[in-house]
Amino acid sequence: MERAGLPWREVSRILAKALETDSKYREGRILGSMCTSPHPRAKEVHSLFLESNLGDSGLFPGTRALEKEVIRLLGTLLGEPRAKGYVVSGGTEANITAFWAARNRARARREVVVPDTAHFSIEKAADLLGLRLVRARSNPDHTVDVGDVRRRTGKRTVAIVGVAGSTEYGTVDDIEALSELVLEKDIHLHVDAAFGGFVIPFLRSAGYEFGRFDFSLPGVASITIDPHKMGLAPVGSGCILFRDREILRYIETPSPYLTQRRQSTITGTRSGASAAATLAVLKHLGKEGYEKVARGCMENALGLYRGLRGLGLAVLEPTMNIVVFAPPRPGAVARGLEARGWRVSRTKKGEIRLVVMPHVRKRDVRSFLQDLEEVLRDV
Ligand SMILES: Cc1ncc(COP(=O)(O)O)c(C=O)c1O
Repeated sequence: MERAGLPWREVSRILAKALETDSKYREGRILGSMCTSPHPRAKEVHSLFLESNLGDSGLFPGTRALEKEVIRLLGTLLGEPRAKGYVVSGGTEANITAFWAARNRARARREVVVPDTAHFSIEKAADLLGLRLVRARSNPDHTVDVGDVRRRTGKRTVAIVGVAGSTEYGTVDDIEALSELVLEKDIHLHVDAAFGGFVIPFLRSAGYEFGRFDFSLPGVASITIDPHKMGLAPVGSGCILFRDREILRYIETPSPYLTQRRQSTITGTRSGASAAATLAVLKHLGKEGYEKVARGCMENALGLYRGLRGLGLAVLEPTMNIVVFAPPRPGAVARGLEARGWRVSRTKKGEIRLVVMPHVRKRDVRSFLQDLEEVLRDV
């Protein structure tokens, strides 16, 4: 660090240079991310609450009330208005919190049965908490094979995970069947709806069909849902919800010098700005606003799907706004697309994966398909 501070002009130059090299969602060329440009109002609100710390919520009762309202609204969206939980930093922290609570309640049990499609944050969570990860295989449609989950579930199982909106394919596991399975065995069922939580309810009300995946199923004990993905909140806004508030007792730690006497979150100091910005978008967009966002993304995803098929490519029919296709020589195709400024991602199997987020417009889809056609000619 410099002894004397730099003139502000110099600092601005450093920052501008960094920003220049960063990708920008608004250019419509990022097709490999589950995040997007936050709603403009969320950006404004975020900057108003920068000093508020939910880890010391006695000092910020107003922001704490906003967080509670976020949890109530999302709980209601997910079938349990009385759900308890927190705004956390993202899906990873939410998944770790769910395993933490489930493990502490289950005492000696030490295994988690998870779908092969589970996000790598689940692996981190198991590793951090000393839990053995048992992977259940997928059906050909990339949903978990419930029979295999059943076979792998035993006396040592703490929790089972179901995914509602898988990271790679956007597929939704048969959470109804998983719910029945855990009820028979008294096991924690955690649903990772980090991505799908802000998609499924809104596509459903727009006429798309999805099975039940939330607290309306009696076995579902906790849900991860991320406002910073399809919820249009700023990065750093995830959510963990528990059906039963009692479970939080198992992860409570005394926090004697703070204004709140106990904490049941992983982090101490927590961003109030994320909670406030999330609430602002939830209130401002309402169900209709989110339906419009989800429907728009899904229409673009279907347009992309049809366009890819039109190019003679093998494409998986999208469950939600994630489109996966397998061109010949996918590595070379991905490189060709990147060279034309597109940011795409690859699945573990090597297919090309496109996440059609709200920043992707119809004209971006058209221009992508044109570029892809040229790339395919060249490889
Ligand atoms: C299904 C799922 N769960 C969890 C996560 C982790 O979320 P985060 O990156 O916000 O920690 C992701 C991220 O893409 C995800 O797709």
